[in-house]
Formats: sequence, C-alpha cells, structure tokens
Amino acid sequence: MKAESRSASRHQEGRALSVRYGDWRSRSLIYISPVWSREQLKILMSRLLQRWPVSHVSTRVAHLVGPSMLHELYLRSALITLSPMEAAQAVLGESVNYAEEYAQAQVLLALQASGAHRRYPDYSEVEDGTAFLLYSLVRHAKPSLTIEVGVADGRSTQVILSALDANEGGRLISVDISDEVGGSAAGHPRWSLRVRSPGRSASRQLQDLLEEVGPPDLFFHDAAHSYYDQYADYLAAWQHMQPGSLFMSDDVDQSCAFIDLVTSCRVKPVILTERRKAAGLVLLPHEREA
Ligand SMILES: C[S@@+](CC[C@H](N)C(=O)[O-])C[C@H]1O[C@@H](n2cnc3c(N)ncnc32)[C@H](O)[C@@H]1O
Repeated sequence: MKAESRSASRHQEGRALSVRYGDWRSRSLIYISPVWSREQLKILMSRLLQRWPVSHVSTRVAHLVGPSMLHELYLRSALITLSPMEAAQAVLGESVNYAEEYAQAQVLLALQASGAHRRYPDYSEVEDGTAFLLYSLVRHAKPSLTIEVGVADGRSTQVILSALDANEGGRLISVDISDEVGGSAAGHPRWSLRVRSPGRSASRQLQDLLEEVGPPDLFFHDAAHSYYDQYADYLAAWQHMQPGSLFMSDDVDQSCAFIDLVTSCRVKPVILTERRKAAGLVLLPHEREA
C-alpha cells in the first residue's frame, strides 16, 4: 500500500472504530436469532470454520460481537486507497485514465437524473469515486454481461450503462426487491431488471439467474448490508464466475461478509475508501480456492 493511502486509512481507523463498536448488537443478531434457516446455519458454520486455523479464541469472540473492520480490511487487502484510478490500476495491472471521458458522461447522467423522480435518499447511491471506478472498469474490461444487485434510483446502473454505450457492446442485468427502481435507466436497450420475489431464498434466485444467463464478466453488489444478505449473494455469484472476471461490492465495511469471502477464497482485494463507505474489488484468480 502506498504511504499516503496507509496514513489516510490509519487516520480514518480511529474515527470509524468508535462508530462500529457501537452497533455490534445489530450485527450479532444473526448469531442469536432463534429462527435459523439452513442457509444461515451454513454461513455461520463456514464463517466459524474458516476462522478456526487462523484465530485465537479471544479474537473470534471479539470478532463475533464487534469486529474491528478497518483493521481486518487493512490486513487482508492488497491495497487500500482513496484513489479510484489507483484502485483500477491495482486490479487491472495497467494504468487506466477515463477521467475526461467520465466527466463528459457525468454531464449527461446529471441531466437525465434531474428529470427523473427520486424515490431513494442521496446517501443510498454509490459515491463519486466508486461510480468512477465502475465506469473505468466497464470501459477497460468491456464486459459482455454485467450483473448488479441493488439499484435504487440507479446511479450505479446508469454509470455502468453509459460505459457500455461507450463500449458499444454488453448488457446489464440488475436485481432488486422492488420494480420501482432504476430512474431514467428504464427503457435502456442494454438494461433489464429482475425483481426478487419475497417468497423464495434470495441467493437461490440469484443462482437461478446465473444458471439462466451464464457467468457475468463483472458482478457488482450494493443491496441489503447485513452479513447474511451480503455473504449469501457473494457466494452465489462467486461460485458461478470465471477466472479473470471482476467481482465488486459497495459497503464492504458494513459487515464482515466481504472480508470472510476473500479470506476463504484466499484472494487479496483492493479497497476504495470514500467519505461514507468503502468498496471492495477483486479480479478472480485462475487458481480457485472456492
Ligand atoms: C444502496 S441502494 C442501491 C444504490 C444503487 N446501487 C445506486 O448506486 O444508486 C440498495 C438497493 O438494494 C435493494 N435491496 C435491498 N435488499 C435487497 C435484496 N435482498 N436483494 C436485492 N436488492 C435489494 C433496495 O431496494 C435498493 O434499491
């Protein structure tokens, strides 16, 4: 990690930890809920087992009741950075600079967004750096299939679509629990929306979709942020994806799910930290552990 990124992440650690220890109760609910589904049990077991060889008892207990997220992200990442361009370069292995092009695309996106009715608060959308990183990845990697989970008013959706338009190829399938999402993306020829039905397991539905449409070249997650919701979706997607494809999630600081995934898959992610949250990114390796 570059010295400036390291010092920035250290600077943020102090502030973030005091907030995170405050909400340990809500995060640990999954462990004490009396209503266990088979999926929840599987996730809990996998979480405990994968920690078994590496942790002391006290670390595990501390982790269950209130993990020090930034420390773990710091220890398990290839890079923590504040720069989307540095994040893209670290994952893609070469320098990419779509700043000028993205600035122009943003003017159009802002125009489209101003005409659309907003249903979700501003803070639900991806932050500027994550939006720029997504744009750069799509422009550089030219995915033919991108799958996104979590749409809201569609900031990430529209950023991905505008990069696909610039590529003149590729399509985006977005998944949400509501059909009133996407804002001005509605009707875009490269876009389709799948609405999750509340009656069925969310991860099963994601697996069915992946079996139907095939593995995505880029997967982006930005939906519910509980450990269970994130990990179940991550696993469903990861198991279907091919080496060399890109796996990305917003809000990787909201639960331990992303840390646990990369730990069990033995990959080192790149983390982009922003003002309110952090996004994690992995290029799927050729040697797969999970
Ligand atoms: C944080 S917002 C997404 C923001 C969006 N990516 C953007 O940049 O504007 C979360 C979205 O996830 C959806 N959501 C919540 N739980 C979900 C689930 N289990 N599966 C799919 N989508 C879910 C919500 O309806 C909401 O649209």
